[in-house]
Amino acid sequence: MLNFTSVLKNKIDITVNIQNFNNNFITANLHEIQHLASIIKEKAQVYLVIGVGGSFLGARAVIDALTPYFRSYNGVEVLYAGNNMSGAYLKQLLAYLDTKDIYVNVISKSGSTMEPALAFRVMKDYMEKRYGQTARERIFVTTDAEKGILKQIADKEGYRQFVVPSDIGGRYSVFTPVGLLPIAVAGIDIEAFVRGGRQAELDFASETNSAIDYACTRYALYQQGYSVEILASFEPRLNKLHEWWKQLFGESEGKEHKGLYPSTVNYSTDLHAIGQFIQDGSRIMFETLIHFEDIDGDVDIPFSLDDIDGLNYLSGHSMNDINAISKDGVALAHEAGGVPVIRIGLPKLDAYHVGYLMMFFMKACVFSASLLEVNPFDQPGVEAYKKKMLELLKRNVVKVHV
Ligand code: PA5
Repeated sequence: MLNFTSVLKNKIDITVNIQNFNNNFITANLHEIQHLASIIKEKAQVYLVIGVGGSFLGARAVIDALTPYFRSYNGVEVLYAGNNMSGAYLKQLLAYLDTKDIYVNVISKSGSTMEPALAFRVMKDYMEKRYGQTARERIFVTTDAEKGILKQIADKEGYRQFVVPSDIGGRYSVFTPVGLLPIAVAGIDIEAFVRGGRQAELDFASETNSAIDYACTRYALYQQGYSVEILASFEPRLNKLHEWWKQLFGESEGKEHKGLYPSTVNYSTDLHAIGQFIQDGSRIMFETLIHFEDIDGDVDIPFSLDDIDGLNYLSGHSMNDINAISKDGVALAHEAGGVPVIRIGLPKLDAYHVGYLMMFFMKACVFSASLLEVNPFDQPGVEAYKKKMLELLKRNVVKVHV
């Protein structure tokens, strides 16, 4: 199912009590989500997801990985807000939305995160001015079942609500309504996605499995002095999956002055940017290469009578074939340059295998954090910036009113 190749000569010997890693990350009523998604798909031109961090990255990763590069926009276009505090972004978004039929899904487990809360305040006002009383039928709230300001607003306004399970943190929530509702609205087969996740759960419930191998390998490399892990792939639409992975590992492991710094590259674009450093710069990193064997859509290289560019030796081959060969070339070059390469291969870029891969990473991440002896489910460091920002905001607000 998933082909994992370790770079370690000797397996590290770790006794695992797998019971400790039986976290359940899949909780959702698929029928309810599919039913609502089918209604939205009929009516909406834009579905706006308001959320930050784990409250939007999973959905965005899956949607980008599994929808075409150049959309015709006959279906629903999924857009995002509340993941930055740019006024220019919001202003341009509002202008863009003006000519579109829109639905809004605000997602926040705590219900009080500043970025989505501000964006939602702006969007709520916009929706009410534009749609009047019916605005409330176009707004869905995904939050805690019982507590939080967003929950209070949803109750007061009568918005339809979806629950973020209390025991599942944002970055582990892609198999809950947090991820599944936007993914379904984007037209992706959530049943296949969840099936992939469930199969991975089964496969990674044994005492030896590739999620444990991945965690052990990166831990052993960390102990040997490597401080950066670079996640790499050769398909641009995996870009946001990289971002999701970066958050998953960065926020789960980077604490108590420990952890690998998670970094990402997209090849071949980045071979012409940061590739020089990876090949030849400070020897601080190893690389984890993701490869999907079968990717929908391909182009053959045509034969040219004059062959001025000298590329006829590649005619008859497809771009995807060449891309796959270049992946092997890059791995060989980087290994020769002193960058250990872990390989993760999957048969096909589809909903099932993306679900499988994401569950693989979540299981591996929890296990990996346990090797570092840190809690994979909290993020105390994130609070530091919030505290400072609030102090400054409150001081400035006082100044404005003086
Ligand atoms: O993974 C996490 O827990 C975080 O990234 C949160 O998802 C992020 O901070 C947003 O939090 P909330 O959903 O409470 O708005």
